[in-house]
Amino acid sequence: MDAKLSVNINKIATIRNSRGANTPDLLKTAQDCERFGAQGITVHPRPDERHIRYKDVHDLKPLLTTEFNIEGNPKEQRFIDLVLNIVPAQVTLVPDVTGQLTSDHGWDTIKNKDYLIETIALFKKSGIRTSIFVDADIRMIEGAKETGTDRIELYTESYAKGYSENKLKAIEPFIAAAKKANELGIGINAGHDLSLENLNYFAKNIPGLLEVSIGHALISDALYFGLENTIQLYLRQLKSTYQPSFFKEEQE
Ligand code: PXP
Repeated sequence: MDAKLSVNINKIATIRNSRGANTPDLLKTAQDCERFGAQGITVHPRPDERHIRYKDVHDLKPLLTTEFNIEGNPKEQRFIDLVLNIVPAQVTLVPDVTGQLTSDHGWDTIKNKDYLIETIALFKKSGIRTSIFVDADIRMIEGAKETGTDRIELYTESYAKGYSENKLKAIEPFIAAAKKANELGIGINAGHDLSLENLNYFAKNIPGLLEVSIGHALISDALYFGLENTIQLYLRQLKSTYQPSFFKEEQE
């Protein structure tokens, strides 16, 4: 089974908010992403609402036909209330702090064990699948198991950064983390800085990868290729049979 593509539409909201009106139309873009083949839509409302606004999440809910994934920090009661009210297919808990430019670390699942157990149970009671953002660190994966989460989202920034220099080295900790998650029966999502360049190698090598959420690179690529083509290009990277670098690798 190929991993699913969930498009993170925060960047669309950022462009819209820069002018104060409704261009680009976030709701239409989300629906178009689905029409063009995306299997999910991800939003990450932050406390300052500088990109996705809480109202956007309410407006999106009745329109979406694919998997809705809401990301954020449950330390904000407002975030918890929003998720329990919307009841998306999945909530991804991210330990980001107020004003942070973007997510830059996963949960310490050992230090936050009790807090995560309690919070995850709250969402699961409402029938919402849970995922927690973690670094590719075996101890954190073992800790995640203790929290009762359904899935983890592997924080892929270090992979993306290391990819061009030494992709084998960059992916090693992610393969080890994925093997541990598989062994413990935790589902695997991944996200952050995944791109047309590095996605296929990741998807090909991570056993049991279920879903990727991609925003920044995908929306940037859409400027050149258009949204429909771009989504198709990303979906192709996720095909287990697709080997874009096959001939190049043969020659190396
Ligand atoms: N996962 C999490 C937890 C994130 O915070 C983000 C960025 O909002 C992403 C995935 C997507 O990262 P990118 O925009 O680099 O594709």
